[in-house]
Amino acid sequence: MPDTLSVTDNRTGKKYDIAIENDTIRASDLRQIRVKDDDFGMMSYDPAFMNTAPVKSRITFIDGDKGILEYRGYPIERLAEKSTSFLEVAYLLIHGDLPKENQLEEWRTNVKMHTFVHENIKKLMEGFRYDAHPMGMFISTISALSTFYPEAKEIMDPDARRKQIHRLIGKVPTIAAFAYRHSKGLPYVYPSNDLTYAGNFLNMMFKIGDSKYTIHPTLEHALTVLYILHADHEQNCSTNTMRSIGSSYVDPYSSVAGAAAALWGPLHGGANEAVLRMLDEIGSMDRVPSVIKDVKEGKMKLMGFGHRVYKNYDPRARVIKKLADDVFEVTGKNKKLDLALELERIALEDDYFVKRKLYPNVDFYSGLIYEAMGIPMDFFPVLFAIPRTAGWLAHWQEHILDPEQKIARPRQVYLGQRGRTWIQIDKR
Ligand code: SDX
Repeated sequence: MPDTLSVTDNRTGKKYDIAIENDTIRASDLRQIRVKDDDFGMMSYDPAFMNTAPVKSRITFIDGDKGILEYRGYPIERLAEKSTSFLEVAYLLIHGDLPKENQLEEWRTNVKMHTFVHENIKKLMEGFRYDAHPMGMFISTISALSTFYPEAKEIMDPDARRKQIHRLIGKVPTIAAFAYRHSKGLPYVYPSNDLTYAGNFLNMMFKIGDSKYTIHPTLEHALTVLYILHADHEQNCSTNTMRSIGSSYVDPYSSVAGAAAALWGPLHGGANEAVLRMLDEIGSMDRVPSVIKDVKEGKMKLMGFGHRVYKNYDPRARVIKKLADDVFEVTGKNKKLDLALELERIALEDDYFVKRKLYPNVDFYSGLIYEAMGIPMDFFPVLFAIPRTAGWLAHWQEHILDPEQKIARPRQVYLGQRGRTWIQIDKR
């Protein structure tokens, strides 16, 4: 049987054979379907891209029904268990293969050479109010970085591109930690290049004065695994934003700032903050039944539950749930974990959730770990953006090098009025 879709337009009786590739048809092949010869031709209407693939990618694979997530073909569970460093996984996402010893060393050195920010960045951050949301500071400062590196606009120059990738992966933890220190009125702690990627971040966040900050190995490992789990997730809202902005050939700093803005939304990367606020609001076990009732009556969403792609347990949530036990061994149990476990237990049995295939997602447990590590709630989306920068950059590079891609410019279904006559204001 040929790889084609045969359609009949019953308005005209005409038949069309449309090629099928990768179990997909090209939307542009629909344009041949028209009633009158001078019609524009047929389009597909797909709000929120519920069933549209605007790109071909080789970076991350998800099977939402089976709860499978793979970075460049490696199962996320294996990477979380076997990889000893976030930078090893960041290399995999950007280059396509796990690095050899020497490649990882060179990559690590290149990133570490770029952990410092220009001193003027500190002055720029001083302009924020003491209570500015750290994600707002993060997004603005990343965008400002584009003014320090004008050569970043040479996006088709592989050396310039490589250098901006090193700079962004190196600097995002520094900018994030500076935002935290600014909000606490604490002096900035400069990066230490003899620490791991996660350890350096914790040191910049929590080191006080000249006393050595002792990085607890369990917390450093937990943060490394959380970074690995959050590094990429195929065409999520913020990655789609990164590709769309990048398709105009603007510099990668401006694209990352836009992607981070999309991630900030409570339906996306802002959900882990929303989960903690929801658990705080619930307060105690006896309020759980009324909360579940409110959710089922559509009065609120159970934050940290549900997913556009996963109609099964998010494999990342499974890993994080196990990680939470290790962290709470060190930091002491967080009573909100019991609340979260009870909400999950009820939701996984309740028909409202089962029918809608609503399972805990990556955000349901991650906030509990961050809070136990002493990180404030409004900082959670920034913690999501740090590792996701590697995923955004991998997709950005794949997009601008894809010969099939052009500037993103969707069509629309226009339902508004046409050809109206001007009316003078005194006649309206
Ligand atoms: C992330 O895309 C990604 O990959 C994102 C991410 C990544 O790594 O980049 O995985 C990270 O963003 C995880 C998601 C974090 N967001 C939340 O936890 C917020 C709460 N979740 C929902 O807002 C929702 O589930 C979404 C936004 C995640 C997905 O929404 P969809 O795919 O648009 O699904 P939908 O809103 O159409 O929901 C289908 C039904 C609806 O009910 P009906 O109208 O059919 O009766 O399920 C209901 C929704 O009301 N529903 C929920 C719910 N999520 C969906 N009901 C209660 N609580 C929820 N959390």
